[in-house]
Amino acid sequence: MNTHFTWDIDTHQIAWLAFDKADSNTNVLTEEVLEAFDQALVSIAQDHPRGLVIYSNKENGFIAGADVKGFAQASSEAAAQKHILRVHEIFHRLESLAFPSVAMIHGFCLGGGLELALACTYRVARNDESTRLAFPEVRLGIFPGYGGTVRSLRVVGDLRALNLMLSGRSISGRSAKRVGLVDQTAPQRQLRNVARQLLIQAPAPRRAGLLRRLPGFAPLRPLLAQVMKRQVRKSADPAHYPAPYALLRHWMLHAGNSRDLFKSEASEVGRLICADNAQQLIRVFLLQDRLKALGDKSLFAPKHVHVIGGGTMGGDIAAWCALRGMRVTLQDRAPEMLGKAVARAHKLFRRKLKDRYRIQRAMDRLMPDHEGAGVPRADVIIEAIFEDLEAKQALYAQIEPRMKPGAILATNTSSIPLDELGANLGRPNRLIGLHFFNPVAKMPLLEVVKATETDPTVIERALSFARHIDKLPLPVSSSPGFLVNRVLMPYLLEAVQMLDEGIEAPLIDLAAMRFGMPVGPIELADTVGLDVCLSVARKLSETLGNEVPGRLLEMIDAGQLGRKTGLGFYPWKQGKPRKPALREKQQHLLDELAERMILRLVNESVACLREGVVEDADLLDAGVIFGTGFAPFRGGPMNYVHTQGKKKCESRLHRLESHYGAHFHADDGWGSMA
Ligand code: NAI
Repeated sequence: MNTHFTWDIDTHQIAWLAFDKADSNTNVLTEEVLEAFDQALVSIAQDHPRGLVIYSNKENGFIAGADVKGFAQASSEAAAQKHILRVHEIFHRLESLAFPSVAMIHGFCLGGGLELALACTYRVARNDESTRLAFPEVRLGIFPGYGGTVRSLRVVGDLRALNLMLSGRSISGRSAKRVGLVDQTAPQRQLRNVARQLLIQAPAPRRAGLLRRLPGFAPLRPLLAQVMKRQVRKSADPAHYPAPYALLRHWMLHAGNSRDLFKSEASEVGRLICADNAQQLIRVFLLQDRLKALGDKSLFAPKHVHVIGGGTMGGDIAAWCALRGMRVTLQDRAPEMLGKAVARAHKLFRRKLKDRYRIQRAMDRLMPDHEGAGVPRADVIIEAIFEDLEAKQALYAQIEPRMKPGAILATNTSSIPLDELGANLGRPNRLIGLHFFNPVAKMPLLEVVKATETDPTVIERALSFARHIDKLPLPVSSSPGFLVNRVLMPYLLEAVQMLDEGIEAPLIDLAAMRFGMPVGPIELADTVGLDVCLSVARKLSETLGNEVPGRLLEMIDAGQLGRKTGLGFYPWKQGKPRKPALREKQQHLLDELAERMILRLVNESVACLREGVVEDADLLDAGVIFGTGFAPFRGGPMNYVHTQGKKKCESRLHRLESHYGAHFHADDGWGSMA
């Protein structure tokens, strides 16, 4: 027995090894845990059991992976390599035990956890959707380093294994069975029995057949690596995300020779983990954990959400809440909007749930409610009608008297101060902002906006609600644009300004994407809708000291609102912009354009920190990354300042100010920054 592991041997002479990491809700593989695991293996081997089952005593899953906090502290390449080689040794001990072993998997089985499972002779997994297996390492700027690249190739074949490792996507227990990653699946009540039977029957361990190993033959590898590289290039720029390319090179050079693969894993992953890109991505992962921890699910148990306004946002918010298991009523004064929203929800459920019955159950949870019958039953009411103070206030006057006592009243407003919205409420302390981002299903952030009077328990409940629907909550103060729109707007306005200077739209987009933004600002403006941009720009014009660009007004007058009308800065066909080909790439210009846009965003971030819109620089970085997709490998705007140097950023702002005007004036916050 030891701190993290306990075991016993049953009447069939099978050893049952339970992993239950002390002082933690989740099993992760820290160095201490790995050593304890090794000791457990040594002790169990001395008892000469017939077989070994490894399972987890944690409710949420088997093993969530290696200890990411430890990664963030990797002191040197040599230290990282030493650690990896030691884990190779431990997993090798597991693999070479004199008796067979089974990993009995439920819930998460990620990264290092999956690598441990692959070192077992067999794997069985629970056959429900909450059982997820994945190699998410590329998302942290590395690739599997605990023998995963060696054993996954062996078990499922080269292409399937590479596909899992390159994408980082997770698959269910059932899918894992289909691809051969696990041997059997079963419902919870049969899992132990299935594991035991495997050990008793002891069939030959699963190996990928010759056909599946064919792509790994030396003469084919360079060609296939080339094809896959091209595929990866579509989503990951090698300059910013080197890990998938390093994985392909590692495979191309060493597949076919396990010993070389192990050696190369240690040196490559050790090298990647110490590089700046990976360290930033690891930081972003930890920031995400911090946001998650802001909401405590146990403090509030919302069951019913009532959404008012079934347009772009309300419809999608309702669908998202239903997808996440809430009972949802969706109210709109225009019944045709409800029909459209339900059709969009169906599309979302089909994409996310796939299974016919689960889709039907989600559809059953989403109820169109033209009359607002859901108001008195709802635990959370989310108002998402159009952006108009009087209309919103009039609506609140109707619904407030009908609300349940403990229910939260939330608004999705993007620009109206909450204190104004709540001015006529009987109980203004229950009003809070829940600012979702468009598209709701894709954007992980939810700004939780508190007004002067918002009750602390309402804030707590709103944060908890965010976690119940799997969003990352960010507490912000009710100042114009909150955080995300506030910092994004100067960046967008700078892009529009460049258009006015005659710079081509695709060049501006390219500059931002080269910097690492997920889409360019012009395409983003078209996607959000130019009318929405204008209304936010107007509301922010005082704060930003910016004029609303005349060009935006003209386009809106002409009905060119962007994607939704088929024409904005770009023509749109089937949801995609038709960008004209660039005449030339003008590399030197790209850097200057990116600098102009990014420094405006950074300068505004400094202003937000000074004003206390968010609590600290880390939360600001997290909000901007998860709310805008800001280049994660750069770690957010404040981290960008940190890595570039404060002095350098300030002097670049001064240069831009003298060149382009006062909107580049460095915010006062720079002065007080450490
Ligand atoms: P929208 O114009 O697409 O939808 C508004 C819907 O509200 C319409 O279907 C309308 O029929 C309905 N409606 C209006 N008054 C109503 C009433 N009294 N009772 C019931 N239904 C009523 O608007 P959108 O874009 O969905 O915006 C809604 C809110 O979300 C606004 O406050 C906006 O600022 C905010 N928002 C919008 C984002 C966007 O990207 N569009 C992003 C984040 C927030």
